[in-house]
Amino acid sequence: MKPKVYVTREIPSPGIEILQKYCEVEVHKGKLPPSREELLRKVSDKDGLLCLLTDRIDGEVMDTGKNLVVISTYSVGYDHIDIEEATKRGIYVAHTPGVLTEAVADFTWALILAITRRVVEADKFIRSGKWNMPWQPELLVGREVYGKTLGIVGFGRIGKAVAKRAKGFDMKILVYDIAVDEETAKSLGAEVVDLDTLLRESDIVSLHVPLTEGTRHMIGENELKKMKRTAFLINTARGPVVDEKALIRALREGWIEGAGIDVFEKEPTDIDNELLKLENVVVTPHIASASLEARRKMSELSATAIVKILKGEKPENLVNPEVEKIRPLTEVKRI
Ligand code: GLV
Repeated sequence: MKPKVYVTREIPSPGIEILQKYCEVEVHKGKLPPSREELLRKVSDKDGLLCLLTDRIDGEVMDTGKNLVVISTYSVGYDHIDIEEATKRGIYVAHTPGVLTEAVADFTWALILAITRRVVEADKFIRSGKWNMPWQPELLVGREVYGKTLGIVGFGRIGKAVAKRAKGFDMKILVYDIAVDEETAKSLGAEVVDLDTLLRESDIVSLHVPLTEGTRHMIGENELKKMKRTAFLINTARGPVVDEKALIRALREGWIEGAGIDVFEKEPTDIDNELLKLENVVVTPHIASASLEARRKMSELSATAIVKILKGEKPENLVNPEVEKIRPLTEVKRI
């Protein structure tokens, strides 16, 4: 009998096709995630689960999915999965690192340039019929990024890709990361500093840390007050890394000049979120990895991880390799 896999949303090709070669696949249809009840009901007889960052995968889901041996998320972030609980139960967890790095780094730069050069404001200006005068010396004047200082918080794959692009703008690059060595940073033309120095000296602060208990609200009132009044904050990581209420005050009261925000404390964010009423913010709906290329590769990688594990092979994109000690791969082989 083929192993059974539940996919919590329709994902781009070729993930489903890859799974269907070896597994009996059930895909949740529609644009909304499955309800909690549905998720629990569907995992109850499945060997594998392909989930999205909108699904909360905790101990209850794992206990209900008595046969679950693999959970693969169609995302690089895995803060929605209780990894410790999975490991305890011998469940292999995979994610999609690497394949969306360039898409997210590109998008980070789209936000940096959009907010510093007021691209969205300018677009709204024309569309709302306000461009009724000839060329103006003071119209929509922004700030240059060329030669400025970029502070990268979190120097993993994405942070490094953002740094590489900054070299083209001849920027000074400061990085803060709990686990970065001077040599790696130096090879990318960056200087390792403490968070305080980074916040005080950067013209643009870009966040690239995962969401953990250690990074939740790591940018709050104190941190925003340390930034230059002319600086910009960019968040393409996870909403709760920033205290959104403090950010709104910072933007409204001029502690910082502007922000580019792709991720929110609550998603989708409410239409009456104060952030959306401010001119000095560019907002986007959690789309930093949304390139055709990245989404296709995320689909392939997340599905392939399930197939590999069910074949008793080790994929490179495991979040919890220590799980092998709890349940060796020979015991999860179903194909
Ligand atoms: C998107 O936010 C991801 O984690 O892949």
